[in-house]
Amino acid sequence: MESIRGKMSLELDFNGLKDRLANYNRIILDLGTGDGRYTRYLADKNPDWFIIGVDACRENLRKHSQAKLHNMLFLIASAQDLPRELNGLVSHITINFPWGSLLESLLADDPLLMRGLESISRESASVDLRLNGGALAEVGTTLEAGAERIYSNMLQGGWQVETPALMKASALRTFPSTWAKRLAFGRDPRAMTLNGHMK
Ligand SMILES: C[S@@+](CC[C@H](N)C(=O)[O-])C[C@H]1O[C@@H](n2cnc3c(N)ncnc32)[C@H](O)[C@@H]1O
Repeated sequence: MESIRGKMSLELDFNGLKDRLANYNRIILDLGTGDGRYTRYLADKNPDWFIIGVDACRENLRKHSQAKLHNMLFLIASAQDLPRELNGLVSHITINFPWGSLLESLLADDPLLMRGLESISRESASVDLRLNGGALAEVGTTLEAGAERIYSNMLQGGWQVETPALMKASALRTFPSTWAKRLAFGRDPRAMTLNGHMK
């Protein structure tokens, strides 16, 4: 699998990954990490957790992936084709403000994504999803209807999920990701959260 640090791309095999994760019990994966700000924030605040940021697009990752944190790794991968080396390792998945094919796969119950999420998860792994109104409007639905559809897809995929809840404007403003900030001060600052865990 391809890892990235600044402009440098590095091939990482299973043993290399195992070495990096050796001293960590809690592994968090931020899918669709964007510029990686949230991944870096978590790694900085939680030195005993290991945080993996994954995105299909490498260009935005240059800055945050250079931070000198031993408990952080960025992978270039598609959400529909997650590296097999991650199987069974992840304790917690975050998906913050997905758009594009990541959002479409969540809405369409795409087995490539849903099975991938299941495969990388450890027993009773947890998941936090944050959705925003603008991204759902772009694919022709509403925040509430989109969240409801994803909620039902997650249930079918074996996750025990709480009913979607509105994210308060203050929570959006203080959430430490670049997209949360953009949304909080943009035209449509509405978002919803879905939290759950593997049954
Ligand atoms: C709106 S941005 C949110 C970025 C970040 N989570 C944040 O809160 O700042 C959505 C991200 O999802 C990524 N994405 C979309 N489809 C994807 C896919 N199929 N696989 C991996 N990443 C994907 C995009 O490249 C983009 O970085």
